[in-house]
Amino acid sequence: AMVPWSGAYDNVNSPICTSQDASGKWIPTLIGKVPSFTERDAMAALDSCERAWDSGRGLWPTMPVAKRIEVMENFTALMLQRREEVVRLIVWEICKTRPDAEKEFDRTIKYIKDTLDALKETDRASSRFQIEDGIFAQIRRAPLGVCLCMGPFNYPLNETFTTLIPALLMGNTCVFKPSKLGSLLQGPILDCFSRALPAGVVNVVYGRSCVAPIMKSGKINCLAFIGSSKVSDTIRKDHPTPHRLRCVLGLDAKNPAIILPCADLDMAVKECILGALSFNGQRCTALKLLFVHQIIAAQFCQRIVEEVDKLKVGLPWTEGTNITPMPEADKCKRMRELIDDALAKGAQILNAEQGGGQCVETAMVPAILFGVTPAMRIFHEEQFGPIVPIAVYNSVQTPLDFIRESPFGQQMSIFGANPTEIAHLVDPLANQVCRINLNSQCQRGPDTFPFTGRKDSAEQTLSVSDALRCFSIRTLVAAKHN
Ligand code: G3H
Repeated sequence: AMVPWSGAYDNVNSPICTSQDASGKWIPTLIGKVPSFTERDAMAALDSCERAWDSGRGLWPTMPVAKRIEVMENFTALMLQRREEVVRLIVWEICKTRPDAEKEFDRTIKYIKDTLDALKETDRASSRFQIEDGIFAQIRRAPLGVCLCMGPFNYPLNETFTTLIPALLMGNTCVFKPSKLGSLLQGPILDCFSRALPAGVVNVVYGRSCVAPIMKSGKINCLAFIGSSKVSDTIRKDHPTPHRLRCVLGLDAKNPAIILPCADLDMAVKECILGALSFNGQRCTALKLLFVHQIIAAQFCQRIVEEVDKLKVGLPWTEGTNITPMPEADKCKRMRELIDDALAKGAQILNAEQGGGQCVETAMVPAILFGVTPAMRIFHEEQFGPIVPIAVYNSVQTPLDFIRESPFGQQMSIFGANPTEIAHLVDPLANQVCRINLNSQCQRGPDTFPFTGRKDSAEQTLSVSDALRCFSIRTLVAAKHN
């Protein structure tokens, strides 16, 4: 049996797993290695992409769209043959449960197919001509050039591909840097790329230290990054002209839920648990702060404790496991810091008796943290882990102020049964976050829906057709029509 362990990637290699001994203790075990690139390796990968781009004259950027679609269809067929291998590596490397890993793989295949369909439609539109004010024009979509695509560890396949695939389909060439956690699972995928695509179109780089030289070279035309706002700022600033760099970013979020007094509590509890604790809360869309009205707080809390108590902490391949080990080495420590800060300032762990907030090796029994106030770090900071912070409110103005003042603006949820009350909240909130989920948890999907955020949460919009727009530029061929 193996469980993930984040090893010393930046030194030489990437040992990434753990085994379980007879007593049940989890022990780090090496399941594979990827090389850590030197600056020279990174520049060679960039040069290869540049040659394939060749100022827009390369085989890939000039390939007819129909042919590019054919190549990517072939890639998808090859990828499907590697499903089991990739799913197993997702489970081992990042500790996603098997059903969730399978869902991630299948969702990614669907995303690619939907994007291919959207591109066929875009291509049909591009071949039409428009005439206005005596100008006869063909409006095309052209690639941007060389893109640097960096994916996150929590969705190493799906989120990474929601930038990489549209970037490639539009005719760009891509330097692809996978997250250090989840780099082994890219092995089979890279093999599919190398078999389906012309040489140089995708080049992989491993290791954090190769990003700065690539950016500093000034040869990147577009940065696609999904991860933390802080890291994205650092990467972007390394480009000689950051203001001119096209950036497609999916960043931090602190999505709140407002539970109104009229809410169906069973539904609210079920959705809040899913929202806060799916994949241990390691989702940018996770619910990260619950505002519960004082009148229903006691009932809501009792039910949430009962339901969280049913969740099983264990290894990701064990059937029925809900909460799995976290692959980041110091994650439990950071969770404990946030919890301890809140406890010192008056919060309490409602499920402390059931082990809430206790670390089990690299996993943590979810902590239901009650009485969270603005003085506590957890009120503002994105936990990205299994903590369910609950703040009690008397006036709905309290959660509204939180949303208005938050540096993030991705999504939120509202739980309530009174349509008038909900309608009253929706219009002003729709100008502050990018998705309001009514009586349901926050989520990205379906992936054809626009996915973005305001303020520090995102730049540009990902989905299927939006993503094709992100990685291209409108180009006109126009003539006077006499
Ligand atoms: O981490 C952010 C992901 O895009 C979340 O996607 O809502 O489908 O889990 P999800």
